[in-house]
Amino acid sequence: MDRTYFINKIKELKEEKRAVILAHYYVDGLVQDVADFVGDSLELARKAREVEGEIILFCGVYFMAETAKILNPDRKVLIPYYKAGCLMADMVIAEEVEEFRKENPEYAVVTYVNSSADVKAVSDICCTSANAVKVVESVRAEKVLFLPDKNLGSYVAEKVQGKEILCWEGYCPVHQKLTVEEAERVRKKYPDAVFVVHPECRKEVRDMADFIGSTSQIVKFVKETDARKVIVGTEKGTIHWLRKLRPDVEFIPAYSEFTCDQMKMITPERVLKALEREQFEVEVDLKVAGKARRAIEKMLEV
Ligand code: 13P
Ligand code: SF4
Repeated sequence: MDRTYFINKIKELKEEKRAVILAHYYVDGLVQDVADFVGDSLELARKAREVEGEIILFCGVYFMAETAKILNPDRKVLIPYYKAGCLMADMVIAEEVEEFRKENPEYAVVTYVNSSADVKAVSDICCTSANAVKVVESVRAEKVLFLPDKNLGSYVAEKVQGKEILCWEGYCPVHQKLTVEEAERVRKKYPDAVFVVHPECRKEVRDMADFIGSTSQIVKFVKETDARKVIVGTEKGTIHWLRKLRPDVEFIPAYSEFTCDQMKMITPERVLKALEREQFEVEVDLKVAGKARRAIEKMLEV
């Protein structure tokens, strides 16, 4: 799609419909360019509570738009493509969590926001990759079930003292694909580059990194770095933002196809159609939304 046409048309529709566009760093670069705010999961959850406007057009995967809806029950929340889901979020269902809770009442359940509203509703508190350590430290229970990401869970377990942390067997297939062999290959090719990774990466890969952080923490690190080359161990869309921030730095994806196909379903064409037709509206069952909101708001208070 023609860039100028797209940008102008979106601007016109946003004003006409009093719409706000929120986008995750992993979506297409052109979509990021028309967004009112680009952020990671935590920043977007916070923003969703603060922004004005009648419509929130959420450019990210479904659980993110669902979180925005849960925090804004009276507003219209749209997602450009409702099939854009998160593969990790699908690795746990609410019934399994309820069963675990019944059998293990001594555990607190800490749930990564990359999960469905149903799963959030049966959790004690949510977290994102940016605040997972603080959230786990904040719970009173000594035993914690962390779900669904075993990699983020093991990262948290390394940082938190005095708690027994049990991790669910879920993972992000996009970050999991970065193996030690791939990481060694790219490090050898760019020996003078700094290596940053997301905590959704495998432990062995995290152990090779110079910096570990959520997407917004990686952005902050890059903003302040003296390095001239950075190997980026997270979804490639982030590099679009990093290049705008630091045109003087060379960015290298840790592996060539570091792409979340689900995020890339949010194309400029679908974004435009979503605003024109006011589709696809995100709905969450009121009872589920109420319970999930408690877990999300508890997180936002930490
Ligand atoms: P953050 O936005 O918390 O960095 O998480 C990355 C991710 O995989 C989002 O789906
Ligand atoms: Fe889910 Fe992984 Fe895609 Fe993030 S990158 S939305 S965790 S599949």
